[in-house]
Amino acid sequence: MADSNTASQPSTRFVSRVWRSIFRRPLVPRSDRERKLMVLDSLILHIHPSTVPEKTLQLSLTWGLGGMAAILMTILLVTGVMLMFAYTPSPAQAYNDILNLQTNVWFGQLVRNLHHWSGNAMLVVAFLHMLRVFFTGGFREPRQFNWIVGITLLLLTVGANFTGYLLPWDQLAYWAVTVGTGLVEYIPLVGKWIQTVILGGPEVGAATLLNFYGLHIALIPIAMLSLMSYHFWRIRKDGGVVIPRVPDEPGEQKVSRVTTIPHLVLRELVVALVLIAAILLFSMAVNAPLEELANPDVSPNPAKAPWYFLGIQELLLHFHPLVAALVIPTLTLGALILLPYFDADLDSVGVWFRSYKGRRMALEAAMIGLVGTPLLVLADEFVIDFVGWLPSLPTLVSNGLVPLAMVLLLLIGFYDWMKKRFAATNCETVQATFVLLLTAFIVLTIVGIWFRGPGMALMWPWDVSSAVVGH
Ligand code: HEM
Repeated sequence: MADSNTASQPSTRFVSRVWRSIFRRPLVPRSDRERKLMVLDSLILHIHPSTVPEKTLQLSLTWGLGGMAAILMTILLVTGVMLMFAYTPSPAQAYNDILNLQTNVWFGQLVRNLHHWSGNAMLVVAFLHMLRVFFTGGFREPRQFNWIVGITLLLLTVGANFTGYLLPWDQLAYWAVTVGTGLVEYIPLVGKWIQTVILGGPEVGAATLLNFYGLHIALIPIAMLSLMSYHFWRIRKDGGVVIPRVPDEPGEQKVSRVTTIPHLVLRELVVALVLIAAILLFSMAVNAPLEELANPDVSPNPAKAPWYFLGIQELLLHFHPLVAALVIPTLTLGALILLPYFDADLDSVGVWFRSYKGRRMALEAAMIGLVGTPLLVLADEFVIDFVGWLPSLPTLVSNGLVPLAMVLLLLIGFYDWMKKRFAATNCETVQATFVLLLTAFIVLTIVGIWFRGPGMALMWPWDVSSAVVGH
C-alpha cells in the first residue's frame, strides 16, 4: 500500500499518511513517533473504555453536551490563569486592571471575552446536558448517584459564574451581586448571618471581593475538577452513556461495539473543534460588558440579579420572599434529587421523551406553560391581590402559602388530567409535569431579563426610554 502512494499527489499522500497513523497502528512501536502515538492512545484509554456500543456514536443521543461542558471548563481554566496575571482583587485596583487589560495588554480583551462567554456558555451547556440526561432517562438506576453528582456540578457552575460576576467591580457587577446575595437574606433565622459571611460584612465591599476571588479561582474550580473526574469515572462504572435497552431474551441481537480509537475520539475531536471555533469567533465579535466603576451610592433602576437568577427574582414579585427565594428553589432541588425514585422505568432508558406518546405530552405541556405562565404573570400584576383579599392573615400566609398551595393544586390537577387523557404511564406524566415547570421557569427568566423595567414594572423590551439608570 505504501508503494502505491509514491506515484500519487502530495495531498493524497498526506491524507493517506494521516489515515494510516490513525487506523493502522502497529502493535509494537517502530519509531519515536509511533511510541508517542501509543502514549496518546493510552492516555485516551484512561478516560474511555477501549470499545463503546456503536449507538453511542450517534450525535443525537447526547449531542456531545457533557463533552462540551468539559471543553468549556478547559478554556475557562486556561483563560482564567491568564487573567490572574493582570488582575488584583481590591476595589481600588480591580476596575483599572480590567481597563488596562482591555487596552494595553496584547489580546487582553480577547482573553477576557473568551473567559466571559465560555462561563455563560458553560451554564447553558450544563443545563442542556441535564435536560438531555432527563429526557433520555439517564438518571435512572444505576446512574442515580451520577445524576446527583451532576446536579452538584450545575450548582457549582452557577457559583463559579456568580463569584466571577463581581470581579470587574463595575456598576453591573456591584449591583447584580448586591441583589443576588440579597436573596439569601430571606432564609429564616440564619439568612442574615449567611449573607454576612458571604459578603464578609454587612454589604458588598473589599472583603466580598476577596471572598469571591478566593472562591472563584480556587475553591470552586478545585471542587469542580474533583467532581468532574468522579463524574467521568462513574460514567464508565455505570456502563457508559445510556442507550436503548436490548431485551435479554435468547436469540436477540447483542449490542454491537466499535473501538473508541478512532471512532469515538474522532467525533469528540470534531465537536471540540467546532465549539472552540464558535466561541472564538463569538469572542472576537462581541465584547464582554463593562460599565462604569462600581458606585455604592448610585443604584441602577431596575437593579437586577445576574440573568440566571432572574427567574427567582421574578418569583419574588409574585410570592412572599420566603416562598420565592427558599421554599420553591428547595422543593425544585429536592424533586430533582428524588427524581430517580419517582421515575424508575428501565424500559424507556435511552429513548428520547420515553415514547411517541411521551413526546406528544411533552409538547402539549410546553405549549400550556408557554401560554399559561405569561397569563398568570399578567393576572397577578393586574387582578390578583391576595394581601388585599385576605387582610387578616399574615403576608407569609396570604401572599406565600395560599398562592403556593394553589400552584401545587394546579400541578396535581394537571398531572391527573394528562395521565387520564393520554392513558399514560407514571414516567410519561412525570416528564410532562417537568416540561410544564421547565417552560414556566424559562418564561419567568425571559420576563425578568427583557420585560421588566424601572421599579421592576412590566415593559416592552424595545421601550428603551423606560430602561434608564436612576438614583
Ligand atoms: C458541569 C459539568 C458537567 C460535565 C463536564 C459533564 C460531563 C459529562 C459527560 C462527558 C458525559 C458523557 C455523555 C455526554 O457527553 O453527554 C456525562 C454523562 C452524564 N451526566 Fe454529566 N456533566 C456535567 C454536568 C451534569 C449535570 C448538570 C447533570 C445532571 C444534573 C449530569 C448528569 C449526568 C449523568 C447522569 C450522566 C450519565 C448518563 C448518560 O450519559 O446518559 N451531568 N456528563
